[in-house]
Amino acid sequence: MSSCYRVPVLALNALFVLGACFYLSEATFFPPPCPCQSSSPPPRNYTATFYSQVVLANGTNNGVANTVPVAGLQGKAFTPSQFGTDYVFDVNVTTTASPTSAMIGKAYGTLAVTGLNGFVVMASLTFVFTSGNLAGSTLTTQGIFDLSQQVSNIAIPGGTNALTYATGYVVARQVSQQPNMVIQVTANYIIPA
Ligand SMILES: *[C@@H]1O[C@H](CO)[C@@H](O)[C@H](O)[C@H]1NC(C)=O
Ligand SMILES: *[C@@H]1O[C@H](CO)[C@@H](O)[C@H](O)[C@H]1NC(C)=O
Ligand SMILES: *[C@@H]1O[C@H](CO)[C@@H](O)[C@H](O)[C@H]1NC(C)=O
Repeated sequence: MSSCYRVPVLALNALFVLGACFYLSEATFFPPPCPCQSSSPPPRNYTATFYSQVVLANGTNNGVANTVPVAGLQGKAFTPSQFGTDYVFDVNVTTTASPTSAMIGKAYGTLAVTGLNGFVVMASLTFVFTSGNLAGSTLTTQGIFDLSQQVSNIAIPGGTNALTYATGYVVARQVSQQPNMVIQVTANYIIPA
């Protein structure tokens, strides 16, 4: 009785194996389209967050200030809210909001109060990374800070080394006033594949 069944079972097995072989060969010769093999791979998205430790010059802390007014309108005090005041800065960039957290680089640049309302500031700055996974690279940013808002978006026109051809934008958020003015910087950028 059992041998009567063995033949058809073997035949079924053979059919199954043949079918599987055919399926395999069809898959081999006609591979399904794969999105990861498209001719132009998508650009890669990156996000990096770090903190700028700004110490504005004023009457009491000029010795340790890293953001200092160097020019302005004749007859006016060079204050952060005066149209025309120009600053240069050399600011520590750290991994957390704490001024004593690990330093990963510096932000160097200039800014000018270009809004007659005293709130709009045009800034041009470059982050120079000296440690962490971006060490040896720079990221340039340029745009408008509106100091009447807590958050400003600034363009990333480019970078160097690991950040070559990076483009995107920075979200700059003021997270603390004392002892330093701490700006949380979230850089969103794309590097072409
Ligand atoms: C990159 O991220 C942004 C925001 O999450 C998204 O809108 C955009 O489509 C992403 N681009 C790519 C190429 O993944
Ligand atoms: C000057 O800076 C110091 C140190 O950041 C700060 O404690 C002080 O309040 C500032 N003074 C003014 C008038 O802004
Ligand atoms: C910036 O970092 C240096 C050490 O590299 C430190 O001496 C200085 O106090 C820091 N400045 C601020 C404002 O945190």
